[in-house]
Amino acid sequence: MSTVSQAAKRITVHTLKKMKKEGEKISMLTAYDYSMATIVDAAGVEVILVGDSASNVMAGHETTLPITLDQMIYHAQSVVRAVKKSLVVVDLPFGTYQGNSEKGLAAAIRIMKESGAHAVKLEGGEQIADSIKRILSAGIPVMGHLGLIPQSIYKFGTYTVRAKKETEAQKLLSDAKLLEDIGCFGVVLEKIPAELSKEVTDSISIPTIGIGAGGHVDGQVLVVHDMLGINQEFNPRFLRRYANLYDTMTTAVQGYIKDVKSQDFPNENEQY
Ligand code: KIV
Repeated sequence: MSTVSQAAKRITVHTLKKMKKEGEKISMLTAYDYSMATIVDAAGVEVILVGDSASNVMAGHETTLPITLDQMIYHAQSVVRAVKKSLVVVDLPFGTYQGNSEKGLAAAIRIMKESGAHAVKLEGGEQIADSIKRILSAGIPVMGHLGLIPQSIYKFGTYTVRAKKETEAQKLLSDAKLLEDIGCFGVVLEKIPAELSKEVTDSISIPTIGIGAGGHVDGQVLVVHDMLGINQEFNPRFLRRYANLYDTMTTAVQGYIKDVKSQDFPNENEQY
């Protein structure tokens, strides 16, 4: 029996809705460059997120706030060049849509036109609904993002679990319904209690993609550098490491240094 993801040629936003309906879980990972996107796409991940987490893992910033629209477009172009099947979603960076839906639409159009990506993601609910509606009205698919929204880190001051209080949970639930009503094709739920993400997932028809939101969601997303163990400093409870590339790469680089110094590299077969 072929699954939805095996049968489809290219993943679209409709594929994801169908997967939710049929109970097939959605896999999503970040990628920011051609080589990584080639691996992630060929491995069969349904959605590649060109996340503004590039600000952290690629550029070394403490937060996602500094990354620019031009830099996001550069990363998105590199990813799109690699991708044959996955749906490519790109984060609108901080400052391009908050409080100004015209600017938000202009930024989304630049991303779609200049990178060839398939959708954009914006952080927030009711407070950014105008921007989401305007972008949707141009025919651009939008993914929402609720719970821990890193672009607002200075408002909250910490990266702790969100929506633990009943009032916050109710607000998140109504924001999720709003995102569904206005036409988002999916929503990321970041670092919220598993019970709440189940309630959200059961009450909306669009797919929920969790990160630190438990198992009762329609799919999962992780930052690829975290799950491959390239990063060592980031150790949240929700992170599962599938490799330890930091150690593997360090050993490889040390082997190269040793061989250069001992003149073992290059040998006779490695020269012209
Ligand atoms: O930028 C990002 O990587 C994200 C994920 C954590 C969902 O938004």
